[in-house]
Amino acid sequence: MKQKDYRIREAVIKDFPSIMALFKMNSDTFSRNEIPAAQKYIEELIKGMIGRFFVSVSKNKIVGCAGYSKEADTDGVYSFNWLAVHPDFKRHGMATELYNMIENKIKAFGGRLIIVNAGSNEVNRFFYKKMGFKACGRIPQYHSEKKDLIWYYKKVSKNKNLLKHFTIV
Ligand SMILES: CC(C)(COP(=O)(O)OP(=O)(O)OC[C@H]1O[C@@H](n2cnc3c(N)ncnc32)[C@H](O)[C@@H]1OP(=O)(O)O)[C@@H](O)C(=O)NCCC(=O)NCCS
Repeated sequence: MKQKDYRIREAVIKDFPSIMALFKMNSDTFSRNEIPAAQKYIEELIKGMIGRFFVSVSKNKIVGCAGYSKEADTDGVYSFNWLAVHPDFKRHGMATELYNMIENKIKAFGGRLIIVNAGSNEVNRFFYKKMGFKACGRIPQYHSEKKDLIWYYKKVSKNKNLLKHFTIV
C-alpha cells in the first residue's frame, strides 16, 4: 500500500463545492441524475439533519468522502452513502478507511444493520464484498438505462464501548 498522505475529518458547509467536484470526477460511475440528487442530500448530512458526512483531505484538497444516515423507520438500521475517492487516490485504502470509521460509529450508536444502495459496476461489487456486505437485490436500469441498482447489507454487532472514541453522536 502507498504511504498515507490524507486525514479524515467531518465535512463542513464550505467543503460542499469540492465534494460536488469529486462526484463530477467520478461521473463514469455516478449517473446524470445522481449528482443533483447528491446535492440536497449531502447538504442535509453536513448540517447533521439526517446523518453525518466526512471528507478525506490531502494538502488542503478534498480527495474522498462518505456519509451515513439512520433509516428513520427502523430500529438500528443505517445507510452508508455517497462514497467517492479522487482518481489520483484510488487503491490507497482510503474508501476502506472511510468505511471502517463509519462502521465503528454505527456500531457505537447501537446499529445492527448497514445497507448500501450502489451501482452495479465491478469495482463496487469487489469493494462491498471486501467490506463484508452481501448483495440482496437488483433493480435493472434503475439509475440509468445502463446502470442497475444493487442493494447490499451487512449485519454488525452493537459495540457501545466504541462510543468513548467519538464525540459526534
Ligand atoms: C469504489 C471506490 C470508492 C473505492 O475506493 P478506493 O479508495 O480506491 O478503495 P480501496 O483502496 O479502499 O479498496 C478496497 C478494496 O476494494 C476493491 N477495489 C477497489 N478498487 C478496485 C478496482 N479498481 N478493481 C477491483 N477491485 C477494487 C479491492 O478489493 C480493494 O482491496 P485491495 O486493494 O486490497 O485489493 C472508488 O473506486 C470510487 O470512488 N469509485 C467511484 C465512485 C463510486 O462508485 N462510489 C461507490 C458508490 S456506492
